[in-house]
Amino acid sequence: MQIAPSVLAADFTRLGEEIERVSSADLLHLDIMDGHFVPNISYGPEVVAALRPLTTLPFDVHLMLEHPLAYVPAFLKAGADLITFHVECKDPIEETLAAIHKGGAKAGLVLKPATPVETLWPWLDAMDITMVMTVEPGFGGQSFMEPMMDKVRAIKKRAPGLLVEVDGGVNDRTIQLCAQAGVDICVAGTGVFRAENAEEAIKRFQSW
Ligand code: DX5
Ligand code: ZN
Repeated sequence: MQIAPSVLAADFTRLGEEIERVSSADLLHLDIMDGHFVPNISYGPEVVAALRPLTTLPFDVHLMLEHPLAYVPAFLKAGADLITFHVECKDPIEETLAAIHKGGAKAGLVLKPATPVETLWPWLDAMDITMVMTVEPGFGGQSFMEPMMDKVRAIKKRAPGLLVEVDGGVNDRTIQLCAQAGVDICVAGTGVFRAENAEEAIKRFQSW
């Protein structure tokens, strides 16, 4: 299992040291919230750019924005290797995926818990990865929604080659459910940054 620690759960007063604590992970997950698409605001491209020289981990940028398209160039410039945005956003999907690809990054669509998995079918060939939310987007520290594993199975059945990431509520118990469903990458905020030993937590999660 590949693990992407979510910086949202890190100690914001010492982000540089926090990034060092998770250097054995596979990706670094960066949650971008606009206060419209989700009822919370996080941080923007300047923070992402400031973190870029501190690690060689690929940057997995999760855009929880009503209008992601306008911000794609800023996050590409900030060093995003992978940009995911929501299928429920208000921008044209094809154009947004193309803008990410044009900038040389990998692109993917994210599903909120209430969105049917079939919504993804038209875009399967146009993306590199898809992400299934296992909590309502907006906040860390929520409980894992187990029924979302049905979506993971449906995606893997229809597009076996497409990478599937899940986001929210991943811990030592729920990661087993992810592994059984065929998930490739798990985001973990609380599970890594609030663990007694972040490196040990990453190692345990990676062993699935
Ligand atoms: C929620 C974010 C998640 C969140 C996960 O909107 O997309 O990435 O940080 O946090 P945990 O692992 O604490 O559920
Ligand atoms: Zn996220």
